[in-house]
Amino acid sequence: MNHFNYKNTLLHCEDVAITDIAAQVGTPFYLYSKATLSRHFQAFDSSFSVPHITCFAAKSCSNIAILHLFATLGGGTDIVSGGELFRALTAGVAPGKIVYSGVGKSRDELKYGLESGILMFNVESEQELDALQEVASSLGVKAPVSFRVNPDVDPKTHAYISTGMAKNKFGVPIADALAVYKRAASMKNIAVVGVSCHIGSQLTDVAPFVESLAKVKKFIQRLQEANCTIKYLDLGGGLGITYDAEEPPAPLAYARALEQELGDLGCTLILEPGRVIVGNAGILVTKVLYTKQGGKKFTIVDAGMNDLARPSLYGAYHAILPVEDRGQGRELGDVVGPICESGDFLARDKEVPISRQNDLLAVMSAGAYGFTMSSNYNTRPRVPEVLVDGSTFHIIRKRETREMMIAGEMIPT
Ligand code: LLP
Repeated sequence: MNHFNYKNTLLHCEDVAITDIAAQVGTPFYLYSKATLSRHFQAFDSSFSVPHITCFAAKSCSNIAILHLFATLGGGTDIVSGGELFRALTAGVAPGKIVYSGVGKSRDELKYGLESGILMFNVESEQELDALQEVASSLGVKAPVSFRVNPDVDPKTHAYISTGMAKNKFGVPIADALAVYKRAASMKNIAVVGVSCHIGSQLTDVAPFVESLAKVKKFIQRLQEANCTIKYLDLGGGLGITYDAEEPPAPLAYARALEQELGDLGCTLILEPGRVIVGNAGILVTKVLYTKQGGKKFTIVDAGMNDLARPSLYGAYHAILPVEDRGQGRELGDVVGPICESGDFLARDKEVPISRQNDLLAVMSAGAYGFTMSSNYNTRPRVPEVLVDGSTFHIIRKRETREMMIAGEMIPT
């Protein structure tokens, strides 16, 4: 459930008409509903009955206002870079609720994480472990470590966002992990605290999660036999949402299935949901610049693949709704952006609203991996982010200016 609904003919976010926001901030912009964000976070978090921490995956939507909101609801953050750590700390997330994932953390980033006192590093290779030992030693601290194990399970999702198969770059193969844990346990500046696993994103079936948990559970039992105590079991993120006709399990069904498989391992669970919390809590609002009939019908809008990369990159579907429903109906065609590439589309060969110049369109389900994957390609300023709270709205990120886009550039003298 989300809070984007028509009242009379106008699409609203909670109690605010989207036309009113567009009149004030211009287009395009990302728009989030605070009530939806809170509701989704709480529905997810309260689905688990075992001790757990819900560490929201910052990569899906990293605005500090949103990280702050989840922190006030008791959440932590899953980060994958020093930049995301900076955001989380600035947003007021407790360092003890921050977990750091990713295959390529630099020494600088490891140092920043150690100095910040984060909960744990999800280490993905032996060389990263050695680097972490060195950095921790130079700081005179012990680094809390969990290894991300790769269980070789097919998550049955888009190839680019499958992460837990042997052919993927992520994690330590589960068959090799025992030896790595033993080595880590003998290192002076490493404290082994957990096991982690993340097999992919936009999963619409619970079975791969359970299959991977079963493998990880067996592995933890072997660790326990080897006297290696595991405090945290990090199951990553990945629960899918409905973009079109997908029917992913509800958070409660997901949690039940995991807890049932988990049994009594005695670990605190860490969850790293991203999309399931923010995906349907955000939209991209764009304005129709022109329409034309070429080889097919094109609706040319002011947002492009630099603003929302998912359709171009993954062939992802995002529903497109008219912000003002005049009963205009739909027609087969493309909604395309201003970028100079034929791959620049928000909808391709879909039934899209029949539009006129200056109509506003809402690109739905864009809250996850929308703004965070946007870029300045074609030197287009990144768009504002707006958060609606009941009958008011807040600009939580300003539109970039042209000056901001070239601020770091220099002509050599
Ligand atoms: N934890 C780790 C270690 C991850 O790599 C990810 C996502 C998550 C958690 C959160 O996954 P979620 O709950 O959001 O599925 N850009 C792609 C998605 C990339 C996902 C990357 N990792 C997209 O737009 O579909």
